[in-house]
Amino acid sequence: MQTGKKQWSLDTTNQTLKEFAKLVNGDKAARKVRKNEPLKVGVDLGTSSIVLTVLDQHDQPLYGAFEYAKVVRDGIVVDYIGSIQILKRLKAQAENVLGQTLTSACGAIPPGTGENSANVVANVIEATEMEAKEIVDEPTAAAKFLRLTTGTVVDIGGGTTGISVFKQKRLVKVVDEPTGGSHMTLVLAGYHHIPADDAELMKRDPKKDSANFPIIRPVVEKMATITKNVMATQLAEPVIVVGGATNFKDFVKAFSHTLGRSALKPAFPQFVTPLGIAMYDK
Ligand SMILES: Nc1ncnc2c1ncn2[C@@H]1O[C@H](COP(=O)(O)OP(=O)(O)OP(=O)(O)O)[C@@H](O)[C@H]1O
Ligand SMILES: [Mg+2]
Repeated sequence: MQTGKKQWSLDTTNQTLKEFAKLVNGDKAARKVRKNEPLKVGVDLGTSSIVLTVLDQHDQPLYGAFEYAKVVRDGIVVDYIGSIQILKRLKAQAENVLGQTLTSACGAIPPGTGENSANVVANVIEATEMEAKEIVDEPTAAAKFLRLTTGTVVDIGGGTTGISVFKQKRLVKVVDEPTGGSHMTLVLAGYHHIPADDAELMKRDPKKDSANFPIIRPVVEKMATITKNVMATQLAEPVIVVGGATNFKDFVKAFSHTLGRSALKPAFPQFVTPLGIAMYDK
């Protein structure tokens, strides 16, 4: 049925996410860019990986790559030199593929981590010879990519879960909970009596998804309960879950069940924030 007002949907953003994932996975070759074509670059220094994103002027993905890394903890850079080395590598690979030098980039920090951590992220970017244009907060970057003006973004990354409520483009509430994907890994490690590094690989193995999920389900329910409490004080829909730790087949079903509302998950949820960050590079 046609209604006058267009419903908010994930359709367009899912298309971009799928294109981006093809570039990251090497299923699609990046095109060489024109000399002096303006590029928009995003750097996401995360607890579990560093993601480099390159967009064209129309915010279409040109290139993407990431490296797993343990250089950031709970949004704070704990290995400055290590971060720079990885970013230098990612930048050099991007320049080689695109045939152009990357001259500027934007970065991001979790909300409420302060000016110091923004400076550190800017310094990491500048140490790789890119001008740090803007350091934005992560949920705002995610909302920009999702074109979400009113709603709740739940970003479940490696170390933390960030719940951010937007009303008419304004971030009106942020709750950061120190539980993320690494806690799911620890639960799995404890259950199977195996080292955390082995449990991490087991967790990400798509063939083990249905065996893993019942074990980590209580962690998902905890995150949904926290989100429910936040929404009891500030209600904004839709609820969008992003971040790598939402990558289970039954995640949304379990999360929505505890939340008591339907949450939505974009395709390749781990790339939402990195793509949003690059959109700020002007
Ligand atoms: N296929 C998968 N199944 C389950 N979990 C996954 C999968 N892929 C990645 N993860 C988990 O997602 C988490 C990383 O997510 P993401 O890349 O969004 O985090 P980050 O940005 O590095 O961290 P943070 O935002 O907390 O600083 C890790 O805990 C990782 O194990
Ligand atoms: Mg993140």
